[in-house]
Amino acid sequence: MSPQDMTQNATAGPEGTHLTANRLPKPALISVEEAKALPQQRVMDLFSAHLNPGQLHFMKLLGFHKVIIDSAEGMHYITRDGRRILDFFGGFGSLAFGHNHPRILAARKKFQDENRHEIAMAFLSQYASALAHNLAKVSPGDLDMVFLGSSGSEAMEAALKVCEQAQGPDRSKVLYAANSFHGKTKGALAITDGALYRASFDLSNRNVKVPFGDIEAIRRAFEADKSIGIVCLETIQGGGGINTAPVSFWQELRALCDKHKVLWIADEVQCGLGRSGKFYAFEHAGVVPDVTALAKSLGGGKCAMAAMIARRDVYMKAYGVPKTAMIHGPATFGGIGEGCISSIEALNILYDEGLIDNAAEQGAYLIERLKALQAKYPKLIKDVRGQGLMVGVEFQDFSETLPFMLKQAVAVLDDKLKGSLSGFIGSILLRDFNVLVAFTEYNRNVIRLEPPLICARADVDTFITAMDELLGRGIVRIVTDFVTNYAKG
Ligand SMILES: Cc1ncc(COP(=O)(O)O)c(C=O)c1O
Repeated sequence: MSPQDMTQNATAGPEGTHLTANRLPKPALISVEEAKALPQQRVMDLFSAHLNPGQLHFMKLLGFHKVIIDSAEGMHYITRDGRRILDFFGGFGSLAFGHNHPRILAARKKFQDENRHEIAMAFLSQYASALAHNLAKVSPGDLDMVFLGSSGSEAMEAALKVCEQAQGPDRSKVLYAANSFHGKTKGALAITDGALYRASFDLSNRNVKVPFGDIEAIRRAFEADKSIGIVCLETIQGGGGINTAPVSFWQELRALCDKHKVLWIADEVQCGLGRSGKFYAFEHAGVVPDVTALAKSLGGGKCAMAAMIARRDVYMKAYGVPKTAMIHGPATFGGIGEGCISSIEALNILYDEGLIDNAAEQGAYLIERLKALQAKYPKLIKDVRGQGLMVGVEFQDFSETLPFMLKQAVAVLDDKLKGSLSGFIGSILLRDFNVLVAFTEYNRNVIRLEPPLICARADVDTFITAMDELLGRGIVRIVTDFVTNYAKG
């Protein structure tokens, strides 16, 4: 902050307060109302100056930097210039209830109007206790001990720690999968398989990586190394490109874990909370892990809430007596009042509105329609996969087939775009069709579709019509259009 940024604020404080003209000068702060109205160029400048200049490069590449959102409702974002953007990105699974679900807004408003308290570390919280009860109710088996936090990474840290504490230091090694994503805090990062995220951080290299869905590799690892006491897997890999494993894999995994006394953590941060067509994706296999984690939509799309849910015996072994209870006790914002009541309302809505069934039904319809598109455009779409409303569309890698001139033009823009259609598709879907889709961390040829679970059949139809029209333009036109548009800025 430069001295010029400081403005002398000599106004007296509100009547009856001790504030005087001698208080500290107020820096040139932006107010809430000014923030809402910032022009797009200024938003970009501030983002670049204070948040992440490198990230802006990618947003500019795809044209996403031009869009400023003013409001959002249900399945749509509404831009400042009045465009309604159909949200098939869904905040990577954070918007199961859509944008601004009226029941969640009403619950939060009432909570505020009643002057309820937020920070409850000194007292027992009726809100946190009720949320933990609800989470135990929706979880199968004896998954009924809960830790509340505010991010997926935090829930995963809690999951890893409860297992390590229960297993003891001789069995603290974790088996994880290739292409996994469990978060960016250092514990979760140590079992996240992305060179980009791992960078050169000092992470534990004791952990063991196996291919996702390879039960024989897990069997061999358990037999060879008795210090593996924990296995941690996303039930459906999101960042890896929407990868699933067959029911038999999960059943055999449960049996192997029982045999070798290994604790199984199911990371359901992205695929949980109904998205797969069951509350937890592991329920499709009829098995129960030892520990699981939820985040993303748990806050009803309005706030940051996360939970680790452990089987009672695992939790009690780790933290069950006063001496151990505070080893991983509450975090400052874990169980915050308005967050808890948002989650309580969200879980109620999930069942009242039949959203889990809807995820199964619309997800099956979406996959069916995408497979028909694949049959129509086999040179463009390589694979369609997923479960419920967690769907991946993999495009053919065209690095070898694109005309030479275009190949060169694309390579100049960014290395990442070289053979990947997904960037072009995502960018043009937004620009020409007002449809938003997501990308995946590790498979640049895949677009990720995670629309809110309130998604209607008509929304799927709108999305498919847009994809059909776009793919119908053909690859050369799509890429030429992208390159030309990029050149225009
Ligand atoms: C499967 C999975 N686990 C953990 C995380 C980390 O969650 P967060 O970004 O809230 O820390 C993510 C985030 O995308 C995720 O997809």
